[in-house]
Amino acid sequence: MRFGYFNDEEREYVITQPDTPLPWINYLGMNDYIGLISNTAGGYSFYQDARLRRLTRYRYNNVPLDMGGRYLYLRDNQSGEFWSPTWMPTRHDLEDYRCRHGMGYTIINSVYRGLRGEVRYFVPLGQSLEVWDLTVENLTDEVRELSAFSSVEFCLWDALDDATNFQRNLNTAEVEVAGSVIFHKTEYRERRDHFAFFACSEPLAGFETQRESFLGPYQGWENPRAVEEDVCSNSLTVGGSPVGVHHFRFTLQPGEKKRVIFLLGYHENPVDEKFSPPGSQTLNKRGVRPIIDKYLNPEVVDQAFEVLRKSWDDVLGVLQVDTPNEHVNRMVNIWTAYQCMVTFNLSRSASYFESGIGRGMGFRDSNQDLLGFVQMVPDRARGRILDLAATQLEDGGAHHQYQPLTKRGNDAIGSNFNDDPVWLVLSVAAYLKETDDWEILEELVPYENKPGTETSLLAHLERALQYIQDNLGPHGLPLIGRADWNDCLNLNTFSDKPGESFQTTINQDGKVAESVVIAALFTMGAKELAQIMAHVGREEDAIHYQNLSDDMAGTTQLFGWDDYWFLRAYDHFGNAVGSHSCAEGKIFVEPQGLCTMAGIGLEDDMAKGALDAVERYLACEHGVMLLQPPYSQYYLHLGEISSYPPGYKENASVFCHTNPWVMIAETILGRGDKALDYYLRINPSNREELSDLHRCEPYVYAQMIAGKDADRPGEAKNSWLTGTAAWNFVAITQWILGIRPDYDGLRIAPVLPEEWKDFRAARKYRGVTYDIEVVREGGGNDVSLMVDGNSIEGTLIPKVDKERVTVKAIIR
Ligand code: GLC
Ligand code: GLC
Repeated sequence: MRFGYFNDEEREYVITQPDTPLPWINYLGMNDYIGLISNTAGGYSFYQDARLRRLTRYRYNNVPLDMGGRYLYLRDNQSGEFWSPTWMPTRHDLEDYRCRHGMGYTIINSVYRGLRGEVRYFVPLGQSLEVWDLTVENLTDEVRELSAFSSVEFCLWDALDDATNFQRNLNTAEVEVAGSVIFHKTEYRERRDHFAFFACSEPLAGFETQRESFLGPYQGWENPRAVEEDVCSNSLTVGGSPVGVHHFRFTLQPGEKKRVIFLLGYHENPVDEKFSPPGSQTLNKRGVRPIIDKYLNPEVVDQAFEVLRKSWDDVLGVLQVDTPNEHVNRMVNIWTAYQCMVTFNLSRSASYFESGIGRGMGFRDSNQDLLGFVQMVPDRARGRILDLAATQLEDGGAHHQYQPLTKRGNDAIGSNFNDDPVWLVLSVAAYLKETDDWEILEELVPYENKPGTETSLLAHLERALQYIQDNLGPHGLPLIGRADWNDCLNLNTFSDKPGESFQTTINQDGKVAESVVIAALFTMGAKELAQIMAHVGREEDAIHYQNLSDDMAGTTQLFGWDDYWFLRAYDHFGNAVGSHSCAEGKIFVEPQGLCTMAGIGLEDDMAKGALDAVERYLACEHGVMLLQPPYSQYYLHLGEISSYPPGYKENASVFCHTNPWVMIAETILGRGDKALDYYLRINPSNREELSDLHRCEPYVYAQMIAGKDADRPGEAKNSWLTGTAAWNFVAITQWILGIRPDYDGLRIAPVLPEEWKDFRAARKYRGVTYDIEVVREGGGNDVSLMVDGNSIEGTLIPKVDKERVTVKAIIR
């Protein structure tokens, strides 16, 4: 069952029914100012940091679902009836409801009692504000007397404090109202130099800034007192719960339309110009006023919207493909690229599953997100790499997370997630392959943001790998520390206290538990660093790193193999995890994919055996599961992974992030059919038909889909903020379609499913546009390339001095 449809032409998903299985959301704003918006206008906004600069409130885990948002009320003043054109919060039976989620905007439209209401929400490029562009149209042949109310509930900036510290924060709120602009300025009197504003293009009949005055005691957002009575009390809240509500009345002739602009935004004043007149407590509005005046103009709004649309032409224009499969085209050309932008911006901080409070920018996560983002805005990827490297520790390890506002490592979480540092090497490699910007390696970057500790970025990469070498276990495999990529495989924790953090509590750091996943990552990372060293002319180091890579591959073959597939780990007692000898959790997916990607066991059929085992034991109709059989009980020595009921999360769900590793591995073995098959099992568009089961948005990946042992196999959770986006983008574009940036140029090496006869693509790369046509003439994967009509050797297109090149690849 579907709840809408894709409109690829407009790059939109159109939702045709408001009560989707879960709120289906979109993101407004792609840089400093960011908003989450659901298909019924729920969600919230923040500036840079979802925890520390939250503009509006949202209540997670609420009933009814999805309460708190950008709500408008329309009121028929003849009948007294009122409703919300976005369905929530009044939940009327709307006609012609449609929500169009597009690239950085959402348009919600509906008809009720002969009145069409349409709201277009977006953030103009480069601005710290969101526009709500309301149009009301009278579709009847009667004159209609109407009221409109807007509403937001302000957050007192720090979202955690806002939701916990009521003894203080019921006494801090302050606002100002000037004309049709409501200013939220809590804590501005003391250490903040920023405030929020909520403006309206209409003269007001009244306003509210005190929640209770608007809603009425013990009344809710579905029936605010002020809307019921059509009168605002012009409340100026001091303390309490600040809201912003505009009220205006208007008349619509038959067929007449009215357009009204609302702006919700964030502004900072210079510290010494906070007040006007100086010495008063009145907000200095001189800086913000021109911005407000500008964007209250509908023409400016229309232009800004066009600029936003155009900017996405450019960003998505880096790669466009035309393959025989519509789900591939749609995801590659539009939605996965878009999701990669969002994950790059937010890491795992703010979605409808991440509360915007708990998790800042993850070191491991952000490095991986970059793999799917780097081609879109390389400059921002560069900045991110330098930010991440600056949170690295002097021993080469890394802070697991940092807060975007401060860019400093989160001490509460700490380090010792032993896979973290290698991901930096892999992201820098991807950056170099895309951009050819070798100067980045010479950038001086501190450790732990401590001035005086700077070394070159290249030295950071060396220390990252040194950290792994300094932390090897009894078999010569890397020690796992708190956890490797799988945060829930906690082999040193032995946690028996409720609520204790599985990741950050180390009870037994016995230096025995080892990770085959880190071994594979190290093998890959050292190989990349060898190539980087060769490129910068450090031949001896190149040999050194290649040797390290080969040695680790050898160690993995010796001690990381289990007769049938790659082992997952050794636990605290030195026993194998993910072995056929285990009672449960006999086989894990991560090492099968990653070891093959690292080239381990390619020659002696280990890799092939491992991937065959994946197909046999881990593949189900909804994707490839993380492990089998699931853990049926809690195991003290395994930790959080066994805390989940079977089929959920790391305990044997289809943990989608890992699936592209298997796809890539399949292409390395030359098995394009299998690779595409796995891709389509989790491809959200391909699962659209199953929306009532899948429940999450059909246009973005979710972190997990419940596995075959779950209560509801096929049900997805945790959509949007997952490494699945970047890795799937890499798997389909670079490995199946085979359009793969390399250090010395663009490589074209597709491994296609047999039934695909051809496809086309256009890729912008290092200033050149490559028009690529791939034609299958035989059943294998041998590639012959012609560049501008001339045959070339191999699969790497040499540097060209032109702006456009045609490439034809014949596959035999
Ligand atoms: C609250 C706090 C307390 C503080 C008091 C006065 O009761 O819990 O710590 O001393 O306010 O500010
Ligand atoms: C989550 C985390 C990621 C981790 C994965 C597996 O997606 O964000 O860092 O690798 O879970 O545990």
